[in-house]
Amino acid sequence: MVLFEPIHALQVKYCGINMGRLALINRKIFFEYYPHFLELGLELSPFKLPLKAGILVCEDRVFEGLFGIFNDSLPDGWGRLLLDRKLMNMGINPNTMTPIDRLRYVGTQGMGALQYEPEFPLTSTHEKSIELDVLADECLQFQINDQDQFIDDLLRMNGSSAGARPKILVSINKQTHELRMTHYDLSPFHEDWIVKFRSSIDPQDSGPIEYAYHLMAKAAGLMVPEAKLFKSKIGPGYFGVKRFDRTENAFLHTHTLSGLLHADHCIPSLDYESVMKATYILTKSMAECEKQFHHIVFNVLAYNRDDHAKNFSFIMDEKGIWTVSPAYDLTFSSGPGGEHCTTVMGNGRNPGTADLLKLAVKTKIDEQKALAIIDQVKEAVSKWKQFAEEAHVSPNSIKNIGYQLCNVI
Ligand SMILES: Nc1ncnc2c1ncn2[C@@H]1O[C@H](COP(=O)(O)OP(=O)(O)OP(=O)(O)O)[C@@H](O)[C@H]1O
Ligand SMILES: [Mg+2]
Repeated sequence: MVLFEPIHALQVKYCGINMGRLALINRKIFFEYYPHFLELGLELSPFKLPLKAGILVCEDRVFEGLFGIFNDSLPDGWGRLLLDRKLMNMGINPNTMTPIDRLRYVGTQGMGALQYEPEFPLTSTHEKSIELDVLADECLQFQINDQDQFIDDLLRMNGSSAGARPKILVSINKQTHELRMTHYDLSPFHEDWIVKFRSSIDPQDSGPIEYAYHLMAKAAGLMVPEAKLFKSKIGPGYFGVKRFDRTENAFLHTHTLSGLLHADHCIPSLDYESVMKATYILTKSMAECEKQFHHIVFNVLAYNRDDHAKNFSFIMDEKGIWTVSPAYDLTFSSGPGGEHCTTVMGNGRNPGTADLLKLAVKTKIDEQKALAIIDQVKEAVSKWKQFAEEAHVSPNSIKNIGYQLCNVI
């Protein structure tokens, strides 16, 4: 076994181009862009890591001193749980791992367009067939019975994806529709998808519920990635979504709002007014602000209250133009204490149309447009039962979620 040696510096690449160096000195993290990268004029994280010469230091400890752009590369929730268990099995105390050490595990296998060198991969990339029912069961065994004999497979399949729920990254053959492990190069014959499994505290039909929300969001006019319910022989199916950080021929730089603003997604700290302001400053586009407003209206009227700072992302193209990413993680959810993680003009407990209109006025969304968006979303949410039946949501969930939705719209 290769022994792990902590290191204090890393090279960062953006789309294969050397971007700069990260260093950890006396518990502080520093970054310096390479001069040739500065000349490209690409602002990858304009709020907290401005594009300028010289050594930049991360002044806050929101992500243990790491800049948000790099924190976005690190798995959290489920991925971190797997990684920490693997480290413990190797005799390494995960608490001694610095963010720089953790980025080495991400190496060339991160989401988005960033890569880190030298890498220290923890599992082989040996191809293994993908059986969703088997993997879903292994995830549950790990959570419920603490069985970790599958840890290498789960870690490998999870890649460096973030989020609390168990998930895997897969490639789908466009012709045969066969699933294989994600490869970290681009292939014109495959599409990259995320498949989510149920966590031990989720309802049995969490996959169908998220799929029904996907259908409802699409009908409500939101921009959503392609999604489907993957079949299961033992349950009601798994929610899968096509990745927006890759196209056939490019890796796209994506940034969560959490990473952009250094806003800890575990602590409710944002109001939608700041989400809208950040959207305007970053994209400089009212069309993108309207897109964001549409997503916000959906979160409020469809009772998606786990609306934390990592559930909003932006995509930067090769020219440095930012857009709001397709909306993801749309499902029925209660936030902390049943409230929204992100408040609507100060209201997290029971926001409604009046708060949304106040937000529209404050952030200069045309009132008629705002009203039309609200109507469109209400219309789609009122058809919950139809989408839920199409997605094979259980009668109980249809009734319970339907009851909550009636109270909101
Ligand atoms: N279609 C997609 N393409 C690329 N990245 C995505 C996509 N969907 C989600 N992501 C990224 O993966 C992360 C995890 O996905 P998601 O939010 O759906 O998982 P989750 O486990 O349900 O999250 P949470 O912890 O909020 O419950 C997101 O924060 C986002 O950064
Ligand atoms: Mg999420």
